[in-house]
Amino acid sequence: MEKIEGFMQVNFGSLELPNDGAIAFLVEKDKPFSGLAAEADSLSGGMLSKAREVSRFTGASGQTKEIVAVTGLSADRVLLVGIGDLEATTDTTWIEIGAKVTAALASSGSKSAAIIADIDGVVVVDIAEGARLRSYRFDKYRTKEPEAKKPTLKAISILSNDSEQSQAAYVARDKVIDGVFMTRDLVSEPANILYPASFAEEVQTLTKLGVVVEVLGEAEMEKLGMGALLGVGQGSAKESQLAIMHWNGGNKDDQPISFVGKGVTFDTGGISLKPGPGMEQMKWDMGGAGTVTGLMKALAGRKAKVNVIGVVGLVENMPSSNAQRPGDVVTSMSGQTIEILNTDAEGRLVLCDAIWYTQDRFKPKFIIDLATLTGAIITSLGHEHAGIFSDSDELCDQLSKAGASTGDKVWRLPLHANYDKLIDCAVADMKNIGGAPAGSITAAQFLKRFTNDVPWVHIDIAGTVWSEKDLPLSEKGGTGHGVRLLDRFVAENYEG
Ligand code: BES
Ligand code: MN
Ligand code: ZN
Repeated sequence: MEKIEGFMQVNFGSLELPNDGAIAFLVEKDKPFSGLAAEADSLSGGMLSKAREVSRFTGASGQTKEIVAVTGLSADRVLLVGIGDLEATTDTTWIEIGAKVTAALASSGSKSAAIIADIDGVVVVDIAEGARLRSYRFDKYRTKEPEAKKPTLKAISILSNDSEQSQAAYVARDKVIDGVFMTRDLVSEPANILYPASFAEEVQTLTKLGVVVEVLGEAEMEKLGMGALLGVGQGSAKESQLAIMHWNGGNKDDQPISFVGKGVTFDTGGISLKPGPGMEQMKWDMGGAGTVTGLMKALAGRKAKVNVIGVVGLVENMPSSNAQRPGDVVTSMSGQTIEILNTDAEGRLVLCDAIWYTQDRFKPKFIIDLATLTGAIITSLGHEHAGIFSDSDELCDQLSKAGASTGDKVWRLPLHANYDKLIDCAVADMKNIGGAPAGSITAAQFLKRFTNDVPWVHIDIAGTVWSEKDLPLSEKGGTGHGVRLLDRFVAENYEG
């Protein structure tokens, strides 16, 4: 699989007006130009002020105005970027401003851009992060895209008085973005290219960064008794896989932390077949596994000082003469039996064996699983927040905080014994659906039965993995939501 690194490099430099490319000036709301913007305005004979006035550009947050071929400047164009009220800035303001510049200039015709960061309070490293994050585009299968639509921008420089410090702080952020881009690559690939074995090969590429990778096939999983996971994959011609990643960045005997991902490389629903319209979206039903893999790349890339296990359950859910049927009973690795009442509730079946395996083998401090588990979470939270479910207030608080500071937002939903009853079953130990009410919660209650009381969080990312429209930090397509969240969560709570 060919990699996409984003089309753009990010550099840092000192404050001076560049002679070519695009120049982006940050403008506070209702304030006159200052610093280099004022200098450029006077070189242009007041053209920038005039442009601002006649276009009603106030500097309100999110406003941009492009002025091309400015008299008196040798640069291609000027981009005015409104930053609003300096006092009103939040954690994600500067990231989104960096991203805005990339989005505005990517296909402008300019090959380079300089962002002039000469206003006190601007966070240069955040601008840099946003600028590169927004440069991702999954275009490898467009062979006939018109030249005029292709990106021209190859580099963005952020010019400030503390470029050395910012550059140093950015090194780790850049590695995390590599992880985000890997996740976006994985969720974007179609299911004929990305299936369990080819996904496992992608995981193997992390060995270059020092990650130790093991891959189990169906024979090995049968020996372990993973009847739930294997039942989902049994209708597919593609062999199911379990990939295990070890990043040993901590002390040798430190208890690891662990992340488990749902990797359904395509979810047709199986015999409980999904309706046709929109089914192509189920190529990203491996988003949990994609996020765990991108996270491992981020942590290894920046050499995080912590021991981390990543486990991804990789299967394809297909209808066939060999597919599992509604009414089948499977035995999970934990020994608990499950009556399959809907073959489309397959994610929990994959995860229950992967979670049990993870706690049994690695005795981790905690398990966080990620999954595009339920359509119901989209009904609850839309595409803004991922849902989190846990008995641990501490883990939820840590995640919420990391969510606010990265912009990968999460929202806690409840667990309760009364919801757990909804998956009780007369035929087996439990059934794999709980009925229409509280569909995301009953799915979480199902997973909880396989945690063996190890502290655990379930993150339902069905609403956040993919976007049908352009977002501040990503184009329409894979978002990479969760990688920066969990990287920050690890950095703030579990390193050193
Ligand atoms: N992969 C889907 C969940 C999903 C749906 C993700 C839409 C993203 C968008 C999952 O495997 C599924 O099919 N869940 C069912 C569960 C139901 C049968 C209990 C659902 O949500 O409808
Ligand atoms: Mn399904
Ligand atoms: Zn699914």
